Amino acid sequence: MSLQLKEFFKKKLSVSEINAVRKYRYAIKGWSYRNDLTKLAIFFGSDKWGKHYYTPHYQIRFKDFKQKKINLLEIGVGGNKSKVHGGASLRMWKNYFRNGKIFGIDIHDKSALQEKRIKIFQGDQANINFLDGVAEKAGPFDIIIDDGSHRNDHIITSFINLFPHLNDGGIYVVEDVQTSYWEFFGGSSQDLNKDGTAMNFFKSLVDGVNHSEYILKNYQSTYLDENILSLHFYHNLIFIYKGDNTEPSSFLKNNQLPGSYDADKKK
Ligand SMILES: C[S@@+](CC[C@H](N)C(=O)[O-])C[C@H]1O[C@@H](n2cnc3c(N)ncnc32)[C@H](O)[C@@H]1O
Repeated sequence: MSLQLKEFFKKKLSVSEINAVRKYRYAIKGWSYRNDLTKLAIFFGSDKWGKHYYTPHYQIRFKDFKQKKINLLEIGVGGNKSKVHGGASLRMWKNYFRNGKIFGIDIHDKSALQEKRIKIFQGDQANINFLDGVAEKAGPFDIIIDDGSHRNDHIITSFINLFPHLNDGGIYVVEDVQTSYWEFFGGSSQDLNKDGTAMNFFKSLVDGVNHSEYILKNYQSTYLDENILSLHFYHNLIFIYKGDNTEPSSFLKNNQLPGSYDADKKK
C-alpha cells in the first residue's frame, strides 16, 4: 500500500477500524508468505532480514519444525520502551509455524502485543528466577532464540538457565554475537580469547561434543557435554542443537587408551 493511501485511510478510519484493517492485512499476507521467512520478516518489519541476514539460515534449520505443534520462545520482542511497538519477529514466527505457540520475553511491558498463539512475559533475561518461571509456565520449548540485550553476560546466563528447558531435538539460537568483539559490551577485538564473551563461551563448548574422547581418568562430563549434539557458527549467529551426546568412545576404555593400542597401526 502506498504511503498516501495509508495516510488517507488513517484520516478516514477510526482506531478500531484501522486495527481491523491491519489484522486483515496481517492474516492475508501472513498466509501468502507463510513458507518464506525472508518475506515474512520484511512484511512484519523484523530486522532478521535487511539489517541482518539471518532468515535464510533460519529457513534451512527450522524446516523440520514447520508443521509441528512446537513451543518457541524468543527473548527480545522489539520496539524498546513503547507498549505498542515491536512484536515483528513474534508475528513472523507465528505465520511460519502455523501450528506453533509463540512466547516472547522482554524487559518492557509488551502485553498489548499479545494475540492468539502469541504470549509475552515481562522480565529480565538475566534474572534466573524469572527465566525459571517462564519455563514452568510455557516450557519445555522446541526452539529458543536470544535476541535480547546482546550483553555477553546476559547471553550466557540465559543460555545456562534456559537450555535445560529445551526438548531433545530442539535448537537454541543466539543472535548478534558481534558484541563479543566490542569493548563497550564487555567484548574485545584485540583478545579473541577474552573471558566472559559469548563467543568464547560457545567456542569452549565445541570440545565438549567430543568429551568421550578425553584421556582424563577422573573427568566428569557436564550437562552441556552430554546434551549438546552440535554447534553451528554463522556471521553473528549461533545454532546449538540439543540431544543425547553420551555415545562412548570407540577407542577408550575407562577414559584411557588400552595398553595394546598401537598408534602406528591406527594411522
Ligand atoms: C533487537 S530487539 C528485538 C527485536 C525482535 N526480536 C525482532 O526481531 O523483531 C531487543 C529487545 O530486547 C529487549 N531487552 C533488552 N534488554 C533486555 C533484558 N535484559 N531482558 C529482556 N529483554 C531485554 C529490548 O527491550 C528490545 O525490545
